[in-house]
Amino acid sequence: MTAPASSGGSTDAQRSEPSPAIRIDSFAAARAVLRSDAMRQAGFNAELVHRFIGPRHAPVLYQDGEPHQKQRSATARFFTPRVVATRYCTLMEATSRELVAQFRAARRARLDDLSLTLAVAVAADIIGLTNSPRDAMAARLNRFFTAPTGHGSLATLRNAVFGQLRTLAFHWCDVRPAIRARRARPREDVISHLIAEGYSNREILTECLTYGAAGMATTREFIVMAALRLFEDDALRARFLAAGEPERMTILEEVLRLEPVVSTLKRRTACAVTIESDAGTMTIPDHSLVEIDIGAANRDEAAAGACPHQLDPDRARPAKGSASLMSFGDGPHRCPGASVALHEAAIFLAELMRVPGVRLERRPTKTINPVSSGYELRDAVIVVE
Ligand code: HEM
Repeated sequence: MTAPASSGGSTDAQRSEPSPAIRIDSFAAARAVLRSDAMRQAGFNAELVHRFIGPRHAPVLYQDGEPHQKQRSATARFFTPRVVATRYCTLMEATSRELVAQFRAARRARLDDLSLTLAVAVAADIIGLTNSPRDAMAARLNRFFTAPTGHGSLATLRNAVFGQLRTLAFHWCDVRPAIRARRARPREDVISHLIAEGYSNREILTECLTYGAAGMATTREFIVMAALRLFEDDALRARFLAAGEPERMTILEEVLRLEPVVSTLKRRTACAVTIESDAGTMTIPDHSLVEIDIGAANRDEAAAGACPHQLDPDRARPAKGSASLMSFGDGPHRCPGASVALHEAAIFLAELMRVPGVRLERRPTKTINPVSSGYELRDAVIVVE
């Protein structure tokens, strides 16, 4: 855990000076921060998003306190184990079979394209984005999530203009038809719920983009990362294929512990907070930016056990909590789609790894997304020998 030079309260004069972020790298302190009532969401450009959209109907990721709690309770029904095991798993199995059959026929594919198509199909069903062709929507979202390039004022202007055009395209082609269909006939999905709650079309668009980034972009990267680990380790791949569902999940969670897709979570204190954890006591001043290093927290020996840098599906699992430790977050904002993502990866990878002669021909290039500070794996080529 690293603290700023000053750990007393902050004055107004100090507030105008951006003070250094407080970095948290132990598991216990990370959990205490994420569970504290005095923390406000500050990641994923939260403070910028709040300037454009009021707090009442902000996307769930950007809400805090009671409105956030209400929104989470109201949408929990889309993520229950029963719904995941029935509705979504059926879709995951059908889509995985279809994608793997296409790959077998072509004998070559880009793994990150396959994982994007699957992640979009599943998240779109949860959100209710089902009134436009899936592949075209995946391509639009892919362009939307691609990190902006270039430096300087011209590049900033160009990125802003293209960003607006991509948002408009997503709204016009995907969100608008979905809203229209659900205003006529509500269904059991997030968009129907938001319409019933009185969200405007613009607010629904923002929530769809948030779910897109939170649910589609993350799962896409994770599937590629887990596939890489399986391709590179014959014993692990054999074990994964021979295992039943619970053991497959454990293997995947262990991969995610070592390779968290979202590597930093950010919070801002709403008042001075004292964090008590096994890692010690720490007082964080009012209005401080706190950055939680998920990679470091996941490799904290106190939580992960001995040899925390090694991939070991047999390591002692925490009595409570998940084997992927902090990779799905913790506290009120903990990922509601964790089980969806793990099932999706397990089903797709089992289907893919069973293909006779499947091989990774080209390793992906790895870049870091500036907003989520997570990894992006592109151009991974798989072939059938
Ligand atoms: C491997 C895949 C995934 C990873 C690594 C992941 C990771 C995370 C993390 C770390 C958070 C917490 C953010 C914070 O505390 O600031 C989060 C929140 C969230 N995730 Fe996921 N996620 C994944 C898949 C999904 C899926 C499949 C969905 C839904 C389709 C989803 C929907 C959400 C939503 C809506 C939130 C915001 C929850 C809130 O703020 O209350 N995620 N995710």
